[in-house]
Amino acid sequence: MTEPGASPPFTLSREAHSIRRSMMRDLIAITARPGIISFAGGLPAPELFPVDAWQAATDRVLTREGRAAMQYGPPYLPLQESIAALMAQRGASVEADQVFIVTGAQQGLHVAARLLMDPDSPVVLDRFVFTGVRQAFGGESRLVREVDNGPTGTLDGDGLGAAFDARPSPRVIVVVPDFHNPVGTSLSQNDRRLVLQVAGQHDAAVVEDDPYSWISFDGRLSRALVADAPERVLYIGSFSKIVAPALRLGWMIAPRPVIAKLRVIKESVDLETSGLTQRVAGEFLASGALEPHLGKLRRAYAERCAAMCAALERWMPAGTRWSRPDGGMFIWVELPDGHDTLAALEPAVEAGVAYVPGQAFASRPAARTMRLNFSNATVDQIGVGVALLGEVLTHHTRLAA
Ligand SMILES: Cc1ncc(COP(=O)(O)O)c(C=O)c1O
Repeated sequence: MTEPGASPPFTLSREAHSIRRSMMRDLIAITARPGIISFAGGLPAPELFPVDAWQAATDRVLTREGRAAMQYGPPYLPLQESIAALMAQRGASVEADQVFIVTGAQQGLHVAARLLMDPDSPVVLDRFVFTGVRQAFGGESRLVREVDNGPTGTLDGDGLGAAFDARPSPRVIVVVPDFHNPVGTSLSQNDRRLVLQVAGQHDAAVVEDDPYSWISFDGRLSRALVADAPERVLYIGSFSKIVAPALRLGWMIAPRPVIAKLRVIKESVDLETSGLTQRVAGEFLASGALEPHLGKLRRAYAERCAAMCAALERWMPAGTRWSRPDGGMFIWVELPDGHDTLAALEPAVEAGVAYVPGQAFASRPAARTMRLNFSNATVDQIGVGVALLGEVLTHHTRLAA
């Protein structure tokens, strides 16, 4: 038997050789010890999953069209229509045939990268970015130009300009305009306009990766970039955070000329997204179950985020800065000089609390940063966990000094 980690008795592709495990997966495995208060994963609150509504929708679909629901089939038009109606809430005027169903936003990122990128194509990414974006767009031989982002949420306009002025010119910029993972911030209207303007000047595509915008705490929805530049933007939405990740269901809005290409690329990955899941999601949306569910998520997450901000205020070492999100699931913390969040993780886990060191989202050292998730812990756990974290961080720097 081959030992794990030993070379296999056959030749691997160059891609397989160069591909690396996401540091985040390893960290989340370490932090998933029983009894630990974890701010590490990007997990929604399980007690809020709409299990009953989903079950009722499944029963209705199977009773009505069991056989068709279990067959191969084209994208499910009623779901595409409901998604077009959701996009109208974001200012985007979209026909059902422009809604391209994908098996989760991660698949959307993957097919978008295959549509737009050659092995040596430059791409513009945030300095701190969801690992799945980096995996899809930042392959080994690709030139990644990074634009700084951090707790204030202001777009680094000079960095953006420099990324596009360098040669060869980037073809793609990937943005997460609302409640960014990992930094938690949203782009201002001006920053959104600037992204579209700069991409337009350089004939680049904009990938708008948007799993979080419907979780705005006050229920106000931003205008999607794709609403203002439908010919330039590939929009990617997801049901993972607004219904449940296990659906593995998302959607793209793309200019009509590229939809046919996307279809062929997606076919090579998984033929099609589960027709059963598409039908149940269509039924769930048509029954009006999403809006009250979003109301519950918004109230609960707003309360948890406020509890986390208050606890950070109380327990973090002096000079610490953090983002103050108006939605989503994450807070980004930047500690003062001398802190090392990677080194402090083990003592934190020993003390009973976990987070993701910012380094997991970066290509360069980022020792003073960390991502905290607030959706997957109760208000009480947040109070206790942040107090433990404050104690560990204060003690740890004293030891390191
Ligand atoms: C910014 C971002 N994009 C994409 C995804 C992937 O989402 P999905 O579960 O729909 O594949 C995530 C998941 O956490 C994310 O945070």
